[in-house]
Amino acid sequence: SKSFLMLVTVAVVIASTSAFAVTDQELRAKATAAGLQALPSAPPAPANNPMNPEKIALGKKLFFDPRLSASGVISCNTCHNIGTGGDDNLPTSIGHGWQRGPRNSPTVFNAVFNKAQFWDGRAEDLKAQAKGPVQAGVEMNNKPEQVVATLKSMPEYVQRFGRAFPNETDPVTFDNTAKAIEAFEVTLTTPSAPFDRFMNGNNKAMNAEQKEGLELFIQRGCASCHNGVNIGGQAYFPFGLIKRPDADILPPTDKGRFQVTKAPADEYVFRAGPLRNIALTAPYFHSGQVWDLKQAVAIMGTAQLGVAIDDAEAGKIATFLGSLTGKLTNISYPMLPVETATTPRPQF
Ligand code: HEM
Ligand code: HEM
Repeated sequence: SKSFLMLVTVAVVIASTSAFAVTDQELRAKATAAGLQALPSAPPAPANNPMNPEKIALGKKLFFDPRLSASGVISCNTCHNIGTGGDDNLPTSIGHGWQRGPRNSPTVFNAVFNKAQFWDGRAEDLKAQAKGPVQAGVEMNNKPEQVVATLKSMPEYVQRFGRAFPNETDPVTFDNTAKAIEAFEVTLTTPSAPFDRFMNGNNKAMNAEQKEGLELFIQRGCASCHNGVNIGGQAYFPFGLIKRPDADILPPTDKGRFQVTKAPADEYVFRAGPLRNIALTAPYFHSGQVWDLKQAVAIMGTAQLGVAIDDAEAGKIATFLGSLTGKLTNISYPMLPVETATTPRPQF
């Protein structure tokens, strides 16, 4: 009778798992139907900016070069640290003269897959974006002429721009600086996340809790805003669609996309955050006030969906979000061109 009991127990366990859990294949189909996509094996080619290895190598040096800033202290990597998830792990960024900027720094990883750049989508692509921070007073506080003078003062940069932009008579320009940076940024994709390997057919790539979290992510409605290759970054929604978060999380002074379009319907509208590598990029939201991913998930529940997501569910969803952490390959710190007597001096 002992073995009979065991048999019954086994049967009950099998019955209950099959009643609640979908098969891997069903889950993959559900995820696909919800618009969630694996990362493509190659990044898309950016518009009007043909790639070549010289351009990518130049862009990498520029990305890491603090002499693009007026002070000579701040590089793109200061706020988009390649070693810490492509962001700065601060609530809002610190820039020129120790000034605190208004928003949290988003990761540069996979940014090429976003529909538009910035929390409010005000830059259409990475080369348009790259010109912003160099000139922004609270970021690098520099002037295009000064950047060009700095680059032209270093023979290695002059040579490298010549090779990256062959057949141009005056290749060292601010435009080409942005294009080279874009070329490097396009390479900052993070393939082979457990989620991607699962979507590509490897059932073992995600564990049971990650799969449960993925199912909840779809079933609760998260995927209706966070979808596409970047699991977000594709469309704009009011932050607080159902219930406005507290003023520390949604500061009344930052009206989001309204500042770009001036349309009243765009007040407090932001781009649904791209969720790839989200486990690496706390604190969360444009205001950077939430350090715990589980708490960010719960806030999304009340603010965007009007549902209370309890701690256990938020934990499962956060575990699924952890399966969106991929692998960045081939990043080593670059040696930078040496300055000369004519290189403009740092300005504070
Ligand atoms: C946004 C790249 C310098 C802070 C972005 C984005 C990219 C980027 C691609 C948009 C990402 C997205 O929307 O998902 C660069 C490059 C830089 C640079 C190539 C160097 C030329 C800096 C510096 C700081 C900084 C020095 C900090 C002082 C930020 C912040 C945002 C942002 C706060 C969000 C701003 C907003 O949405 O209004 N950056 N960045 N960046 N970056 Fe940078
Ligand atoms: C931001 C997750 C549902 C729209 C975020 C962030 C996370 C997240 C973790 C922070 C991104 C970052 O800091 O980089 C979730 C989860 C959801 C969910 C787990 C389901 C429970 C939704 C829905 C919408 C939405 C349904 C649209 C109606 C947004 C927007 C932002 C955002 C607009 C940016 C907010 C800001 O300005 O800081 N989401 N989300 N989310 N999500 Fe969701």
